Amino acid sequence: MAILQAIGLVKRFDDHVVLNGVDLTIETGGTLVIMGPSGCGKTTLIRCLNLLERPDQGQILFHGESVLSKEIDIRLYRRKIGFVFQHFALYSHLSALDNITLALRKLQGYGREQANELARRELAYFDLSAHEHKFPAQLSGGQKQRVALARALVMQPEIVILDEPTSALDPLMSQEVSLLIKKLEARNITTVCVTHDIAFADQISQNVVFMFQGKIIAQGSVADLAKASAIPEMNWFFGKKRYE
Ligand SMILES: Nc1ncnc2c1ncn2[C@@H]1O[C@H](COP(=O)(O)OP(=O)(O)OP(=O)(O)O)[C@@H](O)[C@H]1O
Ligand SMILES: [Mg+2]
Repeated sequence: MAILQAIGLVKRFDDHVVLNGVDLTIETGGTLVIMGPSGCGKTTLIRCLNLLERPDQGQILFHGESVLSKEIDIRLYRRKIGFVFQHFALYSHLSALDNITLALRKLQGYGREQANELARRELAYFDLSAHEHKFPAQLSGGQKQRVALARALVMQPEIVILDEPTSALDPLMSQEVSLLIKKLEARNITTVCVTHDIAFADQISQNVVFMFQGKIIAQGSVADLAKASAIPEMNWFFGKKRYE
């Protein structure tokens, strides 16, 4: 069953067509990887899926219902879609604990005690209990990422979308990030992950889509996609160990 679907999505910035008719079906459960060269529209696509950007044309269906219709409660929808930004976007003036509780307190009306309790559960899940009072500047890259994930998960989303989760970290960390993604799978959270890193993509999923010039042009495992294609840029992309 599809949890989220994009149909013919078009997004322009002035005259620049960035999404040029994206069709994508995200099935419930498991991990979907979005790959493609820099500038092909990956971040724009996931920002549209979360309604951080509004597409100019096309449809986005969540459990088969349009999220672009006027009646939809955007805040409620966004709560179902956790988002982990490339550079984590933690609030630098808040501790790890307060970063995680902020939305619970401000958007969901939880009291501090109850919010702290829920946040501490997530902190423990991500081995961060010893770091709850630290500010982002006092955390390592991997710890910041785990705080960002904990902040997304405390809202009990159905989907978590990660934009380039390995790019802000040491290359040796990609194994750890793939373990984090397995933790999401263990909680039955549908995961969507944008990455440039072919080896990492291969580690986390056999379900990879390739985006090129604002469209999704292929889907399969990394091995399927790496087979010779009629599109030279796709050959080039998969012919290299790492895309730069
Ligand atoms: N807010 C914006 N205003 C104008 N142009 C934008 C905006 N956001 C993105 N773009 C343009 O849209 C194109 C696609 O950008 P996007 O960030 O979606 O690419 P990407 O595939 O995520 O690239 P990368 O792999 O480098 O992160 C780029 O040419 C970018 O300059
Ligand atoms: Mg991007």
